Amino acid sequence: MIRTRIIGTGSYLPEKVLTNQDLEKFVDTTDEWIRQRTGIRQRHCARDGQGSSDMGAPAALAAIENAGLTPMDIDLIVCCTTTPDHMFPATGCMIQDMIGAKNAGAMDVNAACSGFMYGLTTADAFIRSGSFKTILVIGTERVVNVLRWDKRDTAVLFGDGAGAVVVQATEEDRGVLNMHLGADGAFGDLLMLEVGGSKYPVTAENLDSDGRAFSMKGQDLFKKAVVVFCDVARQAVETSGISVDDIDLFVPHQANTRIIFAASDRVGLPREKVYINVDKVGNTTAASIPIALDEANRAGLIKPGSNILLASFGAGLTWASAMVRW
Ligand code: ACO
Repeated sequence: MIRTRIIGTGSYLPEKVLTNQDLEKFVDTTDEWIRQRTGIRQRHCARDGQGSSDMGAPAALAAIENAGLTPMDIDLIVCCTTTPDHMFPATGCMIQDMIGAKNAGAMDVNAACSGFMYGLTTADAFIRSGSFKTILVIGTERVVNVLRWDKRDTAVLFGDGAGAVVVQATEEDRGVLNMHLGADGAFGDLLMLEVGGSKYPVTAENLDSDGRAFSMKGQDLFKKAVVVFCDVARQAVETSGISVDDIDLFVPHQANTRIIFAASDRVGLPREKVYINVDKVGNTTAASIPIALDEANRAGLIKPGSNILLASFGAGLTWASAMVRW
């Protein structure tokens, strides 16, 4: 049986760090409010002129090096982002050029914070079908650029960054054991960026409206997220045939420690098996799981044979999970 194995991880965080105390100086908020509600202490911010491709490229190169490959070995790039450099061409194409992956096809996937999981599922299907041998899946977000500092409900939540994995086929009893995706577009208005697409294009009038910034119905999103996130995480465990005791690490989408621990408690996982970095990087949307995975990998928390649970939820609404044996 052919499975998809993650053979390399990489990530990139911009140098500039914005702490909650920094935010207190220009956003009507407090460190205490942010930490209690979300667990976030700081986030990274890209420099002016730095787009999602500029962060995705170094993360991709780090993952390729970690896999022991070169960019010429990549057959396909799946770039997951909610904040592409441009409406088109795809940010995946920009990264393909930057890293010199001349043999690779390239495309973008947008499923907001579940983007990386949707991208990994896409790669998994291509690998198992035999269409491609080596695929680079990137999550990259320049999200701080589309925040408005006078919208404190969203301004404090997000950060910039990128993460990437390289996947290849294996016939060994490891790799992606299962994947689950879900979506409910009826809840699309819980978190959205209205202006800038084809429905509300960039006009002076639209840019003057509230729609040019993230809008979020925080409490409704929280309630819905807890349900779908817990359910999809449990689904991955139940269909994997792996007992909860045999799960070595849970690497969840890093939005909020309250939502993450609700899911780990529901699955029955002890909190010391949950990888958390939302305190240091905030919510980096589609980049959040690959950044966390790379950190955990490089910290030696993931070993050959480790059973890793991945789960996400995001705007759309979208949700996803996977069980991966390293
Ligand atoms: N600083 C200080 N006060 C604030 C802030 C802030 N940054 N933001 C809101 N408040 C105030 C509100 O105005 C409100 O004040 P009031 O009581 O005087 O009216 C009070 O805090 C409580 O506001 P709530 O929205 O009820 O706060 P809540 O406890 O729900 O926490 C939060 C807000 C953290 C946003 C929570 O709802 C949440 O985590 N929701 C999910 C968000 C999320 O995960 N988003 C990412 C989705 S994934 C993706 O795809 C991008």
